[in-house]
Order: sequence, then C-alpha cells, then structure tokens
Amino acid sequence: MRDPDYQPDQTSPDTEFDVSLRPPLFAEFLGQLRVRERLELMVEAAKTRGDVLDHILLSGPPGLGKTTLAYILANAMGVNIKSTSGPMIDKAGDLAGLLTSLERGDILFIDEIHRLQPAIEEYLYPAMEDLKLDIIIDQGPNARSVRLNLPKFTLVGATTRSGMISAPLRSRFGMATRLDYYTAEELQQIVLRSSGLIGVAISPDGAAEIARRSRGTPRIANNLLRWVRDFTQVRVGGPITQDSADRALAMLEIDGDGLDEMDKRLLESVIHKFGGGPVGVNSLAVSVGEDSGTIEDVHEPYLIMQGYLKRTPQGRVAMPLAYAKLGLRPPASAAQSELF
Ligand SMILES: Nc1ncnc2c1ncn2[C@@H]1O[C@H](COP(=O)(O)OP(=O)(O)O)[C@@H](O)[C@H]1O
Ligand SMILES: [Mg+2]
Repeated sequence: MRDPDYQPDQTSPDTEFDVSLRPPLFAEFLGQLRVRERLELMVEAAKTRGDVLDHILLSGPPGLGKTTLAYILANAMGVNIKSTSGPMIDKAGDLAGLLTSLERGDILFIDEIHRLQPAIEEYLYPAMEDLKLDIIIDQGPNARSVRLNLPKFTLVGATTRSGMISAPLRSRFGMATRLDYYTAEELQQIVLRSSGLIGVAISPDGAAEIARRSRGTPRIANNLLRWVRDFTQVRVGGPITQDSADRALAMLEIDGDGLDEMDKRLLESVIHKFGGGPVGVNSLAVSVGEDSGTIEDVHEPYLIMQGYLKRTPQGRVAMPLAYAKLGLRPPASAAQSELF
C-alpha cells in the first residue's frame, strides 16, 4: 500500500516516470498548438538554412511540458542537449565549463532560469549575443582575462516566473513563448497515450475523469493515472473505469474540480483567517504551512485561472466561486468585486 500522504508532487525534480512518458517528438506532443507551431516553424527554417536555432525562452507553470519541449527541440534539430538549472550554477566557471563543452548547434537547457544569479546572468549575455566568453584564469597577481570564442549554440531557458526574468536577459531570446494549462480533452488524450505506454487498460470515460481532475497539467494527469492504476488493481480489478477513477481520486481528496487539499486549505485560509482578503502571499504561506514559492508557482495560477482567487495590488482576494466551493454565501463585497 502506498504512503497515505502520497500527493501528486509537482515541484520535485523529474522522476523516472516523467522521463519514460516524455514524448520525444513534436508529433507526440499533444496540445499547446500555438507554441508547437511556432517552434516547429523555427526548426524547419533553421534546418533548411543549415543554421542554428535561435535562443528560446519557455515559460509557464510546472508540469506543462517545458523540459519536454527542450528535448524535443534537440531531437528535431538532431543536436546534443546539455541540461542544467539556474540554482545549480553558482560560479561563472560552472557556466564556462558547460558553454565550452558545446558543439555547433547544440542546445544548452537552463531550467529555472529566473534563479540565475545576476553576476552569472551578466556573464551569459556576451555568450548569447556575440558567442564570446571572458574567463579569468589564474589568481592573484597572475590573474588575467582570456576571451574565448564559442561555437554557435542555442540557449533554451525555462521558467515558472516569467515576471522575474530581467529585461536584458529576456531581450536576448529570439523567441519567448508561454505554455498554458491544457484543456480536459487534451489531457484525456495524454492520459490515453500514457496508459498505452505503461500498459494499463482504461476506458475513455476513465481517462476523461482523470483528465478533468488534473488541474490542466500533464504531469499531474500522469501521476494521478499511476495512482488510479494502483487503486483499480488492488480494490476493483479490471480496466480503469470512470467509477474506479472517481473512487481512487476521492481517496486522495482530489475533488470533482481537481482541487487538492492544499488548494482548499488556501481558499479556507483566505476566507476564514483573512476575512476574504486581500492577504499577501507570505502571510498566506505561513497560515497554511506551505512554501510561498510553491503557492505562487503551483496553486495560485490555477486558482486564479479558474476564478477562485484574484490577485490585486493589496494581495489575494477570494472570489464568489471560492465561497461557493466551501459551501458559503459570498459577502456582498466579494460579489461586488466580481464587477471590477
Ligand atoms: N504535450 C504533452 N503531451 C504529452 N505528455 C506531456 C506533454 N507535456 C508534458 N507531458 C508529460 O508531463 C510530464 C511533465 O512535463 P515536463 O516537460 O517535465 O514539464 P515542465 O518542465 O514544464 O515542468 C512529462 O514527463 C510528460 O510525460
Ligand atoms: Mg521541467
């Protein structure tokens, strides 16, 4: 039996499961048509010219396919990809090591690029723009700066916080594109594809049930699929059906709209502890015992998109839908705030 605290985790590093279900080609990457079309066009143009792909910035909430797309781009271009993340680079030398290991056309993937230190960012600019890298060799009185020429490469950056990318960094990307939450129909296709890959039988309405409760996020859909498979195997037997999916998800306390326990705690907190808001994210984080970054990256964007919360300059405010979710009548002020 699984750990009862098991929750689909959206913030941990990519698991083996993630990697095994990752579509390797554009043709298998479902949904996000706008983004896909733009990237495929760039690939085609670069390939036809025998050129290197321009630098690309991918933004959007966790689990929507940013890392997947970086790998698809490398496959489509037929180049190598080196992967790192903003917090992992703490010295200019780390970045220099990566950059100098690239061959012409290779992709350097920097995940969480908004978390690069400013000094490292500065160091990246001439590399992105002029393919030059100034490195300091030796120390003390012998220290001197040497300018290296880099092969033409592609930087693919991913971020959950496009607002935290500095203007100079953003301006150095030829393409910046944002991934949005998936529709239930797209997620249903993803669940069906994943079921095929892990070899589990599922009915179309079983897949639809999982899709509807996955907060628009493929990574969550895949994690829930895995849970529903276990539940169905142990408690029900046979293929996954809408009924077995429903019971399995109820056991995880994921409601009919896909909100999980933390989402509901957040809404409860805004309404009961902070009088419906406005409340700042840090106070909210303390009151529910969750990291404020996770709230901002994972929970809030979905709650806002679905109309439960609103972000104002003074803080987060509960919308009438949030009251309805908790079985409460919205106060007149909340009903009014919908008008603005
Ligand atoms: N468009 C898609 N089609 C099919 N599966 C997808 C798609 N996007 C994401 N996935 C699945 O979701 C998982 C998480 O995607 P990932 O690229 O790691 O997200 P991100 O880097 O944005 O956090 C992947 O392992 C992959 O299996
Ligand atoms: Mg990722």
